[in-house]
Amino acid sequence: MEEQKKQRIYSAIQPSGMLTLGNYLGALRNWVAMQDEYECIYTVADLHAITVRQTPADFRRQILETYALLLAVGVDTSRSILFIQSHVAEHSQLAWLLNCYTQFGELSRMTQFKEKSISHADNVNAGLFTYPALMAADILLYQADRVPVGHDQKQHLELTRDVAIRFNNLYGDVFTVPEPFIPKTGARVKSLQDPTQKMSKSDANPNAWVAILDKPDDIMRKFKRAVTDSESCVRYAEGKDGINNLMEIYAAVTGKTYQTIEGEFAGKGYGNFKLAVGEAVVETLRPIQATFADLMKNKDYLQSVWRENAQKAEPIARRTLAKAMKKIGYIF
Ligand code: TYM
Repeated sequence: MEEQKKQRIYSAIQPSGMLTLGNYLGALRNWVAMQDEYECIYTVADLHAITVRQTPADFRRQILETYALLLAVGVDTSRSILFIQSHVAEHSQLAWLLNCYTQFGELSRMTQFKEKSISHADNVNAGLFTYPALMAADILLYQADRVPVGHDQKQHLELTRDVAIRFNNLYGDVFTVPEPFIPKTGARVKSLQDPTQKMSKSDANPNAWVAILDKPDDIMRKFKRAVTDSESCVRYAEGKDGINNLMEIYAAVTGKTYQTIEGEFAGKGYGNFKLAVGEAVVETLRPIQATFADLMKNKDYLQSVWRENAQKAEPIARRTLAKAMKKIGYIF
């Protein structure tokens, strides 16, 4: 009997600074889990990262560390492709084409663009504006069926679908129209200092976010200082953003339901709860940190892996780009 073709997954992450617990629970954990069932292609999105100014030496290190960290969390290159975006030139090429099929009005509505134009007011460059067209190119090049992301990327994914449908309507079936895949828990990890905002590595207050590579003491300190409320009752409810966020994190790392968590901490106050969340996070991250440290001892090995993986990704990307260009009318 013919084996059914596996669906294809595509996702990417920016190498800007240290990856956070939000990246891990909202995205990377799913990247790893999905390898059992799907054909997965994952990318370090270094082209996206220069929409904000990067210092060359730091940027170089961040790309390397992000690649190693993705291996450390469990992306397995014997089953999946893990490459660095700038190594496959087709991303930039298709992005240009898709820029011409994406409307100014659509890009103007992107929440992330609006937010970043405020937080980086001195550098509102064209790349920041057209960033979603590059993201669409990433996904569409690989004809991905599903895209695992945290909730904050949903709008970009909807735009990707709109652009794919528009292109297909003009030229026939060129691109697979991808479905978002957003996990139930962990998709919206919030800042520990302002739980109405998402946890982000660009937050100036280091106590607001936990890095995957933070030391256990730092993780515990950040959870102990996490903002809560004055009710002193661990329950998931409207208006309790801080506690809701801690419950979501605890549920995501332990697999417990909110009901179980409420029972576990009934009458115990927030101090105990914060310690438990911190400890559960430390234990989740411990093996990842150990594997990361080992990988970073062997840069030649890392380089051989990313080169080999770019070579696997490139033919897939080349095929899609050629197909799109032919349809538009380019000659070869
Ligand atoms: P990036 O690098 O900001 O984040 C990578 C992934 O982590 C998720 N994430 C979160 N999830 C839950 N809670 C949080 N606080 C949190 N912070 C981040 C993001 O949703 C994302 O899934 N534009 C993308 C990278 C990208 C991409 C792509 C993604 C480029 N091309 C193609 C998918 C497909 C970005 O900046 O993600």
